[in-house]
Amino acid sequence: MDLQTALADFLAAHPGYDAAAIAGLRSREFARLEDLGHVYLDYTGGGLYGASQVRLHRELLDSGVFGNPHSHNPTSLAATALVERARESVLRFFNADPDEYDVVFTPNASGALKLVGEAYPFGRGDHFLVSYDNHNSVNGIREFALRAGAEVTYVPVRNPDLRLDADLIGAGLRSLAPGQHGLFAYPAQSNFSGVQHPLCWIETARGLGWDVLLDCAAFAPTNRLDLGAVHPDFVPLSFYKMFGYPTGAGALIARREALAKLCRPWFAGGTITLASVAAGTHMLAPGHAGFEDGTVDYLGLPAVTIGIKHLDAVGIDAVHERVSALAGWLLDQMSAWRHSNGSPMVRIFGPSVMDRRGSTIAFYLLDPEGDVIDVYRFESLAGQQRISVRTGCFCNPGDGEVAHGINAEDMSRCFRTPEVPVTLVDCQRLIEDSTGKVPNTVRISLGIASDFADVWRFAEFAQGFRDIRASEV
Ligand SMILES: Cc1ncc(COP(=O)(O)O)c(C=O)c1O
Repeated sequence: MDLQTALADFLAAHPGYDAAAIAGLRSREFARLEDLGHVYLDYTGGGLYGASQVRLHRELLDSGVFGNPHSHNPTSLAATALVERARESVLRFFNADPDEYDVVFTPNASGALKLVGEAYPFGRGDHFLVSYDNHNSVNGIREFALRAGAEVTYVPVRNPDLRLDADLIGAGLRSLAPGQHGLFAYPAQSNFSGVQHPLCWIETARGLGWDVLLDCAAFAPTNRLDLGAVHPDFVPLSFYKMFGYPTGAGALIARREALAKLCRPWFAGGTITLASVAAGTHMLAPGHAGFEDGTVDYLGLPAVTIGIKHLDAVGIDAVHERVSALAGWLLDQMSAWRHSNGSPMVRIFGPSVMDRRGSTIAFYLLDPEGDVIDVYRFESLAGQQRISVRTGCFCNPGDGEVAHGINAEDMSRCFRTPEVPVTLVDCQRLIEDSTGKVPNTVRISLGIASDFADVWRFAEFAQGFRDIRASEV
């Protein structure tokens, strides 16, 4: 089916899809995609910036003189004002009450997660309750918990939808004894499967004494996070995933009460009200200042204000509607593709319909005999058509292990020689050779500039594998 016919069918099925709005946005802000012939399908990896964001940022830098904040001279004050404006923009965008929430600027979501992990007051008898479905930067918090003698409990996702079992979550949450510290961490949207986990667990968990870390790095770019409606204690995110630019800025949005519970393991320039060498002591600055080590990215952070304005102008709800419609079309298509012998062409990991899921799709292609098409070869062939997809485990080993049926014994093969680091590709080959399981996945994800032509071009490319044997690719 040609693009125009497919588009007409899609529009008939999705009357709410505003084709004129996305066409205007593409030509105004993202013309480089067309000019260079790219189909960008890795928004969960990184968002794309609009042309006006870069222009406005440059104009701002050209029109002022900005010095290091933390001083009272005019150039320093000008930089401080821009940083504080960015902080206010973040709170406003997420509808966070400034009396309840504070914003700590970090280099990225991982930086925000590390701040929580290293400073959470884990001790013997305390708990870190964590979903299998998590990015490694959340998994890494377990090292702080274990070192402090706390217990770490993983709640598995289940096949085939890769959702968490509400009963298991409930049982985990009820296990916290009075007086214990408990940190419960899960993603609002999976960066692997696109599953959106229930936000109602936040209040349940907090009611049972837990501090809740809701990883919104993969959720915030295409969904409205309303911190007036839900009240997680810690929200890490990266701004480049939301609006592409700047790449060196993220945030820990934290409830002020929760932030005050954290015990920083050190102090640095900018984080103290006072430090003494002679007296050997220091006083940590209250709120965000106590967590922003050294000089913040004061020339980059104004681009966060610009990016938020841009995303506001495009409309997060409009982005959500658009990518949901496009991902729904793609899921329907992919589920229906068949080889001539009637066997399915695709295996999707996670939900194959747009119910409580975002626009991130994990899958691999199968050949007519059910053998898996090598994902790296698929990525490379897609790349030759300027189609950007992602392969690997997406730093989410828990989801990948469940999706591919890999158990602890399978994985232990990859950890037998700690002195010789094993790469992800080595590990995948080792598991494939020893178990026959193929732990490789392709991920496509949609975002602010996605349009119908993107998903159609991908669909055309992928259908080119119909009736092709895996050994011939
Ligand atoms: C859900 C999730 N959390 C955390 C991260 C880490 O983000 P960053 O690499 O920007 O620190 C990512 C990155 O892909 C993610 O998808």
